[in-house]
Amino acid sequence: MTQSINESIHAVGVVGSGTMGRGIAHTLLRHGYSVLLSDASPHSLAAAAESISNALAGDVEKGRLTEAGKRQALAKLKTSAELALMVSANFIIEAVTEDFSVKAEVLRQLETLCAPEVIFTSNTSSISITRLAAVTSRSGQFCGLHFFNPVPVMKLVEVVAGIETLPETIEKASALAVSLGKTPIRVNDFPGFVSNRVLMPMINEAIYAVMEGVADPQAVDGVMKLGMNHPMGPLELADMIGLDVCLDIMKVLYEGFRDSKYRPCPLLEKMVHARRLGRKTGQGFYDYRSKADTAY
Ligand code: CAA
Repeated sequence: MTQSINESIHAVGVVGSGTMGRGIAHTLLRHGYSVLLSDASPHSLAAAAESISNALAGDVEKGRLTEAGKRQALAKLKTSAELALMVSANFIIEAVTEDFSVKAEVLRQLETLCAPEVIFTSNTSSISITRLAAVTSRSGQFCGLHFFNPVPVMKLVEVVAGIETLPETIEKASALAVSLGKTPIRVNDFPGFVSNRVLMPMINEAIYAVMEGVADPQAVDGVMKLGMNHPMGPLELADMIGLDVCLDIMKVLYEGFRDSKYRPCPLLEKMVHARRLGRKTGQGFYDYRSKADTAY
C-alpha cells in the first residue's frame, strides 16, 4: 500500500456516500488515510461500506494491496449517519447530492463541528465554490476538489479556487491529491469550471444529434470512440455520469452564462423526467437491466 505522504492530515471526513463519496473514500483508504464517512441515509452508508470492502478486495486480487493492508485499510474506515462524526476530521471532502441547498445545509452543520483551521473542500461538479464557501466562515480555507468517475482510475483532480480561497488552501488540497496518485490541476471558479464547461456541451450536442435523427446512440458513440479516440462515447459516458447530473450541470452553465449555447437538450430533459437516468436506474441511452453494474 502507498503510505500517506500528507502526515498533517490524520483523518479525512467524506460527507456523502454515493458513487463519488465511495470512490473517494476507497481511494483515500487505499493510500493509507483514516476516513470518516457520513451520509444521512443508513442504507446508502451500509451499501457504501460493502462496496468499499469489495473494491479493496479487488485491489488485493490485482496485487495492489496485501490481505493485511486491506484489513488495516478497513480498520481505518468509520461510518456514521450522524454528521457529528466529522468532529474528529481535519480535512473535509463534501460529496453530497448536487443541490446547492443540500450542500449549504451540510456545510452550515460542519461549520459548527469543525475547528476553524480545518480545510473544507467540495467535490461539486459545477456549483459555484465561491457561493458554497460563503455559507461558511472559512472562505479562505475552502476550495473545490473535483474528482472524476471512476475515482480510483481517473488521474485528474480539478482543484477549484473560489474568489476568497487562500493559496495555501490550494497547496494543501493539491498535496492531498498528489498523495493519492492524482494530478491536481488548478482552475478558477466559473460555471462548470474547465471540465464540465467543455465536456457537458459535447454530451448535450450528442443528445441533440440523437434527437434530430442524425444518428442513433451507437453510431454517435462509435464516431467519437473510433474517430476521436475517446475511451467512451458521449452517450455511454452520460449514462455513467447520470443523466440527471448532466442536466443539472447544463442548467448551471445556462443560468451561469445566460447564453443559449448551453440550453439543455429537450431529449435530455425528457429522459430525466422518465427516470431513465443511465446505469443507476438501469436505462439511459442504453439498457443495463440485464447486466450487473460494476460501478460503485
Ligand atoms: N470503478 C472502479 N474501477 C473501475 C471502474 C469502476 N466503475 N470501471 C473500470 N475500472 C477499472 C478496472 O477495474 C480496470 O482496472 P485495472 O487496470 O486495475 O484492471 C481499469 O479501470 C480499466 O477498466 P477496463 O479495462 O474494464 O475498461 P476500460 O479500459 O474500458 O476503462 C474506463 C474503463 C476507465 C471507465 C474508461 O472507459 C474511461 O476512461 N472512460 C471515460 C471516463 C470518464 O470520462 N470519466 C469522467 C466522467 S466526468 C466526471 O466524473 C465528473 C463530472 O463532473 C461529471
